[in-house]
Amino acid sequence: MKIPHKPFTVFGTALLAMSAFTSVAFSQAEFPDAPGRDTVFLVCSQCHSIGRINTAKLSADDWQFIVYDMISRGAPVYPEDIAPLTRYLQDNFASNKR
Ligand code: HEC
Repeated sequence: MKIPHKPFTVFGTALLAMSAFTSVAFSQAEFPDAPGRDTVFLVCSQCHSIGRINTAKLSADDWQFIVYDMISRGAPVYPEDIAPLTRYLQDNFASNKR
């Protein structure tokens, strides 16, 4: 998120603080606590927002591909974290799940 370099009114600053707070609460609810979650927060937020993940419409197969795609782009995922991470994304964000 880019914060515009404009003078803030007190009201504008309060709104910004509130929206920052709700977006944190929102992402925690959207990312259930399970193995792989820490990797998502640590690794997948390095180049883009983790909002990319819960807004993506991807099948289980797509997620498998995405994990390797992101690693090939430089995402630092330990080899032993690849399986739980993939599982986590598929379990929680595969659009063809149900
Ligand atoms: C090294 C940088 C980097 C890291 C780390 C990274 N990504 Fe990405 N990701 C990218 C780039 C670059 C794109 C393409 C951006 C664009 O098209 O605007 C992208 C796009 C995406 C997309 C959208 C793909 C689509 O087809 O809609 C998803 C989903 C995604 N990343 C998930 C992840 C996940 C999950 C992780 C953690 C494993 C992760 N990313 C970590 C660089 C990264």
